[in-house]
Amino acid sequence: MDKTLILTGLRANNDLHIGNYFGALKPLIDMAKNRSNEYEVNLFVPDLHSFTTPIDHATLQQQIMHNLRLFVAAGLPLDNESIHIYRQSYIPAHSELTWILDCFTGMGEMRRMTQFKEKSTKLLTQNPTAELHDTESRDITVGLFNYPVLMAADILLYGATYVPVGDDQSQHLEYARDIAERMNNRFGELFVIPKPVKVQHEFFGKDQGLRIRNLQNPSKKMSKSEESDKGIIFLGDDPIVAAKKIMSAETDSLAKIPDSLDFNMQPGLSNLLQILSLLKDENIHDTLNRYVGQNQYGPLKREVSEATKKFLEDYQARLSNVDDTELISKLERDERTLNIAANARLLKVQQAVGLRPFV
Ligand code: TYM
Repeated sequence: MDKTLILTGLRANNDLHIGNYFGALKPLIDMAKNRSNEYEVNLFVPDLHSFTTPIDHATLQQQIMHNLRLFVAAGLPLDNESIHIYRQSYIPAHSELTWILDCFTGMGEMRRMTQFKEKSTKLLTQNPTAELHDTESRDITVGLFNYPVLMAADILLYGATYVPVGDDQSQHLEYARDIAERMNNRFGELFVIPKPVKVQHEFFGKDQGLRIRNLQNPSKKMSKSEESDKGIIFLGDDPIVAAKKIMSAETDSLAKIPDSLDFNMQPGLSNLLQILSLLKDENIHDTLNRYVGQNQYGPLKREVSEATKKFLEDYQARLSNVDDTELISKLERDERTLNIAANARLLKVQQAVGLRPFV
């Protein structure tokens, strides 16, 4: 019997940050390292997603290769046939399936997506010539609008059951389930339905549904595309600079460490405690127990700051040792194999919707 598939992708429009790492990359890599005898694991660069918001196209190739190296430095084993690594656009079936799913998706479904609303508002605010709420603006592309459909195609093409993602992608995952069910109800068993978000949380434990906050503005998530990078810890940050970012993280004036995280009352403090528990690979209750009742934040900040510095030093040392020849050879081999698997699933869908004859 085929093994259950775990799959995720991380866009290559910028360096990755610790939110990307702990929200999606680490949970997947832990599975790849420890449970590849039970599961197939797909990790890919969704390069077609990279320019749903504006990027520097001249550096995209470089960024894609950099992110692939980041995957290896995070511990992705390259010598395992159950683990696959690939670039989305090298498997054209992703785009083909997207178009088909587009034609079974309502405009209203996409319009409701929180990320679309947030990103389009941000794009309009960034461009002083655009009228706020002007949905006709060219800055807000059709690509940004239907990007959840491409994401659903990424997932359904290979029959993924588990998809580790941060909290911001939960709604897109629910849509992937909806469209898979809709197609199956109408055309028969075409797709594996990914598990509901709650079940995914249970499967991945603490890392799933994660939302690391911006250090300077902890009411917002840590995001690659902020104007200032002061609140973001990038994996490529100088470890000393990153340690300083932690020391100057925004907290609050309550001066009390409670016995549970409260992201409404103390978002900055809760964020630091969460980051520390992830860096130490420690249960959050154990992290809290070490600090509960303290009435100053200095010692906590110092520990997070040192742990961040050490994490980045180790990560960057591994990054400088990545063997490009081995990486590229695995990448190209996997892309050849996965093209065959993806085309087989695409053909089933094409036959179901009448684009290809049944033979
Ligand atoms: P992207 O590239 O924006 O982010 C990559 C992953 O990082 C998670 N993430 C976070 N997790 C915790 N805290 C944060 N502050 C934080 N910021 C980002 C994201 O939730 C994501 O899991 N559409 C996806 C990429 C994608 C994909 C897919 C993922 C394309 N196709 C298929 C899974 C399956 C995206 O833009 O993620």
